[in-house]
Amino acid sequence: MSHEPVLVREVIGYLAPPRDGLVVDCTLGAGGHAAALLEAVPGLRLIGIDRDPQARRLAGARLREFHGRVRILAGEFGELGALLGRAGVERVDGVLADLGVSSMQLETAERGFSFRREGPLDMRMGPGQLTAREIVNRYSEAELQRIFREYGEERRARRIARAVRQARERRPIETTTELRELIHRTIGGKGGRRIDPATRVFQALRIEVNQELAGLSRLLDQVATLLGGDGRLVVISYHSLEDRLVKNRLRDMARGEIDEATGRSRSESRLIEVLTRKPVRPTAAEVAANPRSRSARLRAARRL
Ligand SMILES: C[S@@+](CC[C@H](N)C(=O)[O-])C[C@H]1O[C@@H](n2cnc3c(N)ncnc32)[C@H](O)[C@@H]1O
Repeated sequence: MSHEPVLVREVIGYLAPPRDGLVVDCTLGAGGHAAALLEAVPGLRLIGIDRDPQARRLAGARLREFHGRVRILAGEFGELGALLGRAGVERVDGVLADLGVSSMQLETAERGFSFRREGPLDMRMGPGQLTAREIVNRYSEAELQRIFREYGEERRARRIARAVRQARERRPIETTTELRELIHRTIGGKGGRRIDPATRVFQALRIEVNQELAGLSRLLDQVATLLGGDGRLVVISYHSLEDRLVKNRLRDMARGEIDEATGRSRSESRLIEVLTRKPVRPTAAEVAANPRSRSARLRAARRL
């Protein structure tokens, strides 16, 4: 059960860390990107963050050979400034965030991320959050509908939310496969479709459980302060909500404040330059070798 890092060459190219630099990998996972960066840039030091204890253990073992150049921190990347501050670090040369779940998380049935594996409805990436089970069985029908619509971009959110409420009145919904079957009974099964109709609802629940968009937004608020001059930001997203958030925030930071008199942006208030006019996608060969990369979109920026 290994996790194949995506867009590795592109990550190294856009992050372009200086030889004696310090970068922070906000989503250490199994340490795939971290290992590639440390290997490619001999003097580089790296701080790796993950909120998942299992990921930190795995990455720790994988990165042992880079002993002395790596520090692993537990925590949320939404608190990046505070985490780095506690580690005595004020500025870094690069920030990498490879969002979403890792293959280990997805493939461990007991963690409840995948509807392909029977498991408890959990979906927590780290300690301390509500589980998907609590959300499914306790949120009001209206709240569920909102989450399915906003975070799953699911057109049939109302019908699914109603079906969930009706089903749980009989008995609580406990497992991934129970929820998947309920969704199939409500809006139809997979049939010959490429994407399972349960995908959007599972995505929505995962985003809500892990407060993914709020964390990403807080991270983006802090990067300009944490990056030194010419420092780089690289973000890989796996669904359009994340990618849109990244795209819009990078655009705003690149534009800076608008002068009311002239309607132009004040050049001194521009924080970053966007390096990717369009999101960078994996090649067909990478998608064939690593299907998880299919939806990946990379965006990068440089601190001015
Ligand atoms: C796609 S994986 C990263 C894989 C990694 N790049 C590699 O090559 O092995 C995403 C990781 O980010 C972690 N993660 C997601 N959101 C996080 C957050 N807000 N704070 C800290 N870690 C987070 C997850 O626990 C998961 O291990």
